[in-house]
Amino acid sequence: MAYETLLIERDGPVAIITINRPKVLNALNASVLDELSNAFDELEADRSVLAVVITGAGDRAFVAGADIGELAALADGKAGEEKARAGHHVTHKMEHSRLPVIMAINGYALGGGLELAMAGDIRLASANAKLGQPEVNLGIVAGFGGSQRLPRLVGQGMASYLLLSGEQIGADEAKQCNLVEKVLPPDQLLSEAKRLAKVIAAKGPLAIAATKRLIHKGLQTDLHSGLELEAAEFGKISQTADAKEGTKAFLEKRPAQFEGR
Ligand code: COA
Repeated sequence: MAYETLLIERDGPVAIITINRPKVLNALNASVLDELSNAFDELEADRSVLAVVITGAGDRAFVAGADIGELAALADGKAGEEKARAGHHVTHKMEHSRLPVIMAINGYALGGGLELAMAGDIRLASANAKLGQPEVNLGIVAGFGGSQRLPRLVGQGMASYLLLSGEQIGADEAKQCNLVEKVLPPDQLLSEAKRLAKVIAAKGPLAIAATKRLIHKGLQTDLHSGLELEAAEFGKISQTADAKEGTKAFLEKRPAQFEGR
């Protein structure tokens, strides 16, 4: 499929999606949201793709938020709600995909940009990244999941600080509060994201998808129910060809060859 707002490249089993509207710091308009949704369907269906990296075009921004021009033109409350739901649709699709998603945050990740990043599995940031939820500066609230995912990631106090003040934080502070997992020099960000994606892509794909499911479902439930889910998944995965191969390869002191079955 051809995309107007995304560049999609392949590096072996890894697909790299670059959000490509650098003149507006990669702001998320309706086309980007639609195309991200379609791109995910396409990648999900391609069994040769085993991991995804998402980054922003240029050296200034990952994504500087939802497109403020579109927000200013929202005709009524229903249109506003639909806009929020369009963001929820894409972020939900990523979270529930079999594909691990690594976010390579190469500059501003503000508003919808940070909300997109929070729907990924792992966040890497360049040392010059700036992160924040500046919606209140515009008299609006976070609409693509920020009010819900941010407190889950960083806790209530830090989430309230970011969502209520609209202030931006740098990459090191984001690392300290668990908003990103690693901080890298700008010229190493993408190579590290691809390296990590390949490390994950080399594991058993069924085990990776099950782990991702357990983390996301578990975060929404109590410990006992989460452990029940884990036991059920463990039982299923323990009988896959990949599990037989992985354990046999260890005992035979050779690398495992996983096939996703
Ligand atoms: N939506 C639409 N356009 C945006 C945008 C957004 N979220 N963020 C930046 N742009 C556009 C700017 O309007 C500008 O366009 P222009 O060149 O036609 O004037 C261009 O991107 C470059 O941005 P600019 O503001 O000139 O860069 P800067 O270095 O002075 O500031 C930011 C960078 C990120 C601090 C600033 O652009 C900003 O605050 N953006 C909005 C962030 C935000 O509120 N996001 C949440 C939206 S809900």
